[in-house]
Amino acid sequence: MEEILVVQKLTKVFGGVVACKDLSFCVKQGEIKGLIGPNGAGKTTAFNLITGVIPPTSGSILFMGEELSGMKPHVIVKRGIVRTFQNIRLFQNLTVLENVIIALDQQNSNYSVGASILRLPGMKREERRVREAAMDYLRVMNLEQRADQTSSSLPYGLQRKLEIARALASQPKLLLLDEPAAGMNPEESRELARLIQKIRDDYHLSIILIDHHMDVIMDLCDSIAVINFGEKIAEGTPEEIQRNPDVLQAYLGEGYKRAKS
Ligand SMILES: Nc1ncnc2c1ncn2[C@@H]1O[C@H](COP(=O)(O)OP(=O)(O)O)[C@@H](O)[C@H]1O
Ligand SMILES: [Mg+2]
Repeated sequence: MEEILVVQKLTKVFGGVVACKDLSFCVKQGEIKGLIGPNGAGKTTAFNLITGVIPPTSGSILFMGEELSGMKPHVIVKRGIVRTFQNIRLFQNLTVLENVIIALDQQNSNYSVGASILRLPGMKREERRVREAAMDYLRVMNLEQRADQTSSSLPYGLQRKLEIARALASQPKLLLLDEPAAGMNPEESRELARLIQKIRDDYHLSIILIDHHMDVIMDLCDSIAVINFGEKIAEGTPEEIQRNPDVLQAYLGEGYKRAKS
């Protein structure tokens, strides 16, 4: 399998805090890569670095062979890396459908919200086309029944799914999901896991998944990197990670080992 993302010796220092330290890992084409570790380990910082929100102190990020560090976030989105946020970021006063329409518009010049808002004669067909495209992404995430609801009125679990629908509308090659199952009950997180697998297959995505739901992580991921205090302490298959003594000590804990055996 070909590597779509190669992160090499990535370091980020905030004042005195070393949030990422010499972090290296790869994501293969089509793979779901787990990124796990305790709160404050540097997981979200890794996403911020990959998406160009913050510049690295040092290190390199190669995406499809091209160096990303120094690129602006909107350029990186155009290259095909799209993320969701640990703290949900939606246009809260807009409807579910409108949130996806805006994501479509930001990414694709062949969709124009301007036209649909101005309601120019002859733009009806264009407006229908944009709405249909947005509805398709809602259907993928099982949100089509909610299309006309204000997004702030959705339960958190559904807002997280809407974030993923918006991300898909940006047509990513690599999708970064930051705690997509946070706040979900076991049934919701199982459904989400199925959806993540489905979009990976249907859209030929590569995915990096940060989450604390170990059932979701262990079920979905082809490979997992574990970070602690900004440093990678282990990497391997779910089976390898679950019996790695360093991971059990730093993150999963003895309770996890007992529950598994
Ligand atoms: N913008 C920032 N400015 C200063 N410190 C930050 C910033 N972002 C993250 N940090 C610090 O970096 C460390 C890693 O944070 P984060 O990447 O959010 O961890 P995680 O997502 O693994 O919980 C924490 O100590 C956090 O306080
Ligand atoms: Mg985080």
